[in-house]
Amino acid sequence: MPMKLLTGILLIAILSTSADARCSRGCDTALASYYMWLNSNLTFVSQMTQTPIPTILSYNPSIPNQESVQAGARVNVPFACDCLEDGEFLGHMFEFRTFPGVTYQTIAQTYYSNLTTVDWLQRFNSYPAFSSPDTGVTLNVTVNCSCGDENVSKDYGLFVTWPLKEGETLESIADANNLSADIVSRYNPSANFNSGNGLVYIPGKDQDGTFPPIASRTT
Ligand SMILES: *[C@@H]1O[C@H](CO)[C@@H](O)[C@H](O)[C@H]1NC(C)=O
Ligand SMILES: *[C@@H]1O[C@H](CO)[C@@H](O)[C@H](O)[C@H]1NC(C)=O
Ligand SMILES: *[C@@H]1O[C@H](CO)[C@@H](O)[C@H](O)[C@H]1NC(C)=O
Ligand SMILES: *[C@@H]1O[C@H](CO)[C@@H](O)[C@H](O)[C@H]1NC(C)=O
Ligand SMILES: *[C@@H]1O[C@H](CO)[C@@H](O)[C@H](O)[C@H]1NC(C)=O
Ligand SMILES: *[C@@H]1O[C@H](CO)[C@@H](O)[C@H](O)[C@H]1NC(C)=O
Repeated sequence: MPMKLLTGILLIAILSTSADARCSRGCDTALASYYMWLNSNLTFVSQMTQTPIPTILSYNPSIPNQESVQAGARVNVPFACDCLEDGEFLGHMFEFRTFPGVTYQTIAQTYYSNLTTVDWLQRFNSYPAFSSPDTGVTLNVTVNCSCGDENVSKDYGLFVTWPLKEGETLESIADANNLSADIVSRYNPSANFNSGNGLVYIPGKDQDGTFPPIASRTT
């Protein structure tokens, strides 16, 4: 093989591996926006996310206590945002113990409130489908996250993974989070905010009620 061609192939190989690596490190905290469904409660959310209720409440100053959480509310649940699969993406693997009657669809769309999808469950679990009556099988539930992007702004270093719901728009989401539509769209350049499904990433507030900048999260 001519040397030039070899060098070319090598260069392409190097370029494509570095392009594939989307993260080199994660961040201590991201927030999962959990949409409360009818008959859900914080005890259940705490179990699903392996996060104690007081820790959840500390990120939700508008919720005075766990009994006051209403269906239709969104609750921010903190979790560690890790760089997974050799730098392929940022996410966190939660653990779910099965009980009779669960399927990938109920896990994604109900128990994890669309923070993950059936496809994403299939990717991280050895079972092609899950509908067996087995109890106590531990499944991996992977939820994507973001640690910010200093090319967009250094002012935001904590991000909410926000599953889009029907009826929402870029403006309604920006308003609900006290952000400008411009900044929300710049973090999600390819999102279709009106689609009613998929994830977007929105700057989130720390326990002290302020938007923490990137610097405070990476040192
Ligand atoms: C919390 O929600 C789960 C799931 O719907 C339910 O099984 C459980 O009984 C509820 N617990 C309380 C204390 O309401
Ligand atoms: C999740 O998405 C599905 C499909 O859009 C929807 O039917 C379901 O109500 C959503 N789940 C929650 C908890 O909002
Ligand atoms: C999580 O991110 C990966 C990589 O960007 C993407 O392929 C996947 O579809 C995302 N999963 C969900 C549930 O949005
Ligand atoms: C969950 O992921 C771990 C690796 O992170 C893997 O060893 C395990 O087999 C997975 N569980 C299932 C049910 O596939
Ligand atoms: C920010 O921009 C620089 C220069 O264009 C680039 O090298 C870097 O990868 C970008 N960072 C992110 C997180 O996209
Ligand atoms: C929204 O932000 C403005 C200024 O950035 C602040 O004055 C106002 O109190 C905030 N509102 C809420 C509901 O957080």
